[in-house]
Amino acid sequence: MRTQVAIIGAGPAGLVLAHLLHLQGIDSVVLERQTREHIERRIRAGVLEPATVDLLQEIGLAGRLLAERLVHKGLELLFDGVGHHVPLAELAGREITIYGQHELVKDLVAARLDTGRPLLFEVSDVALHDLTSDRPRVTFVQDGQTQELQCDLIAGCDGFHGVSRPSIPDGVLTAFEHLYPFAWLGILAQAPPSADELIYAYHREGFALHSMRSPHLTRLYLQVPPDEQLADWPDERIWEQLRVRLARDDPAWQLTAGPIVERSITAHRSFVVEPMQYGRLFLAGDAAHIVPATGAKGLNLAVADVAALAQAIVENRLDGYSERCLRRVWRVQHFSWWMTSMLHRVADPFTERLQLSQLRYLTSSPAAATSFAENYVGLPFDGGN
Ligand code: FAD
Ligand code: DHB
Repeated sequence: MRTQVAIIGAGPAGLVLAHLLHLQGIDSVVLERQTREHIERRIRAGVLEPATVDLLQEIGLAGRLLAERLVHKGLELLFDGVGHHVPLAELAGREITIYGQHELVKDLVAARLDTGRPLLFEVSDVALHDLTSDRPRVTFVQDGQTQELQCDLIAGCDGFHGVSRPSIPDGVLTAFEHLYPFAWLGILAQAPPSADELIYAYHREGFALHSMRSPHLTRLYLQVPPDEQLADWPDERIWEQLRVRLARDDPAWQLTAGPIVERSITAHRSFVVEPMQYGRLFLAGDAAHIVPATGAKGLNLAVADVAALAQAIVENRLDGYSERCLRRVWRVQHFSWWMTSMLHRVADPFTERLQLSQLRYLTSSPAAATSFAENYVGLPFDGGN
């Protein structure tokens, strides 16, 4: 088999890249280890930056998204029992979109299949070869048969645990990593959201986040220790902690509970490799970097990478790809680390005073709130930040 671009991974990065290339008449083959059902059901991110939505709209992939999304003009920061509205759209000039990552993946898979170009599910033993030659190859197994894919270049879009990054020889990449002493327990509940906006809550018992997926589905997160087991969190304990951490002075406010339809625990990590290229292999999205979830940036950063990669391929300016992406990656890393550090409870009174001081400043200074809003809403894809 031969193609121009071999894309490893059918997450948001791989699927958006495949479509961008298709629109430019560039052929690709997408190789995905999981089944279609699996990737279309995997509950992950929910917040899309306006630049992500703009790109999806420009390439004709935003039809259902624009019809079904929730548009938010602001969010709430809750601490000391008081909610503070941050008017994102007023401060940063753009709104955010709430639309589940798995819904987006469904749209992207359907669009790919419509093009008639290959998207292969359930491939195994993916291996990358001859990365520094001008004829790299990918081998994989499908239906028990070993196959070889020859190509001009490979896009490693296979997430943090994929095969692309580990295919690069030791000593080539520099990795930067920061681990956090907590994780998030996330649930999806069949319950109407209890507020119109996202609520980021700083609380003595730990951080909590109220988010949503639709008028009938609430997405909620709790800060938990990094080695926490789901078995230790029966439904009643989850709801009790959410009620405590999201409580406010307003006695009329109530958290609406409902059946929990999905639950998982996700560790927090900051991770970047430099450069995002080795020979004819280009890393994009979680394969190259991870941000802690607090800023809701992981999916958006993955899309920004592949927008840059598609442009670099079309313009044959691949040498600038890594540097261009890393400028944005580090801006987003800083913002995600900063927001995570401000909102999560650690057992240190000095840090607690700093966090509260930062939260008070952010919710009282228009300058501080504007900087926060600009980063949360996200900088333009070609902003050169
Ligand atoms: P992925 O979405 O991970 O896609 C990579 C694809 O490659 C997957 O389909 C995988 O099956 C496939 N693959 C892996 N290895 C191979 C292989 N060897 N061969 C072939 N295919 C392979 N971000 C937020 O902003 N907010 C959140 O709430 C949030 N929650 C998250 C929860 C979890 C459990 C995880 C893992 C991530 C979460 N993220 C969140 C991050 C966000 O979902 C990611 O940043 C985003 O999915 C990155 O897209 P991607 O395409 O780079 O990688
Ligand atoms: C969601 C996830 C986030 O990490 C975040 O900051 C906001 C919302 C969500 O899954 O809805």
